[in-house]
Amino acid sequence: MVLADDVEKKVGRTPHEFLSKDIAPITGTCCCSKYGLTAVSAAASAIIGVDQQADMLETFAAAARSAGVEPSIVQGTWPDVADRTATADVVVSGHTVYNAADLGPFVLALDDHAAHRVILEATDRHPLGWMADLWAGFHEIDMPDEPAIELAVAALAELDIRPSREDRPAGDSDPAGGGFETKGAAIALVRKRLCLEPEADAAIEEALGERLRMRNGMWSAGPTTRTVVTLWWDRPTGSRG
Ligand SMILES: C[S@@+](CC[C@H](N)C(=O)[O-])C[C@H]1O[C@@H](n2cnc3c(N)ncnc32)[C@H](O)[C@@H]1O
Repeated sequence: MVLADDVEKKVGRTPHEFLSKDIAPITGTCCCSKYGLTAVSAAASAIIGVDQQADMLETFAAAARSAGVEPSIVQGTWPDVADRTATADVVVSGHTVYNAADLGPFVLALDDHAAHRVILEATDRHPLGWMADLWAGFHEIDMPDEPAIELAVAALAELDIRPSREDRPAGDSDPAGGGFETKGAAIALVRKRLCLEPEADAAIEEALGERLRMRNGMWSAGPTTRTVVTLWWDRPTGSRG
């Protein structure tokens, strides 16, 4: 694949700046629907998106095209599709580490596909941990607010990968995360996750309180504050080993 020619300079930047502003040659492995890709610049001479969900890939492709880059798309589960995915200078996994069934093979395949840098971004806590009070209130189920990113860091250490780390508060304007046109649709997603019937919508709305709100013009429910953690390491001679 074609890569930007000044990637060495670009990888020296802090990762979230690199992701959200430069987006040089990114292989968006388990790719980003929005995060970072709204800013895909002319520096990204090639970009690959990998995700198991077709709708996520469509959003990804539209974002890349609107930034002037024609993406390659690989639909499938990582690392099963690694063999048919090209390598790239930089590999990014956006908000997917909590989804990976087995983090070891997942990360090693990312590492294997990066010429320069691997970047993992995720919230510091499990992305649905904020619903613990709803599970308690509606079902009397004590749902743990975990795992946390420290578990991924520990798993990486077992692979002899010791990433750099940067934590940042993610505000409502952060491009990560989706949303709905209507408040009702945002409530319906919470209801579905809680396995409740539509009759519960009013009670769900009340329980959500200020967590149900418009962000970037879209309705969504989620924690009012959260921390996004960027973990990154360089290859082939960076902080690995
Ligand atoms: C929380 S969403 C994050 C979406 C997007 N990457 C972003 O940063 O906004 C998690 C995404 O990871 C995808 N996913 C989870 N595990 C995966 C895997 N093993 N291989 C490919 N895609 C995966 C899901 O289909 C889903 O689109």
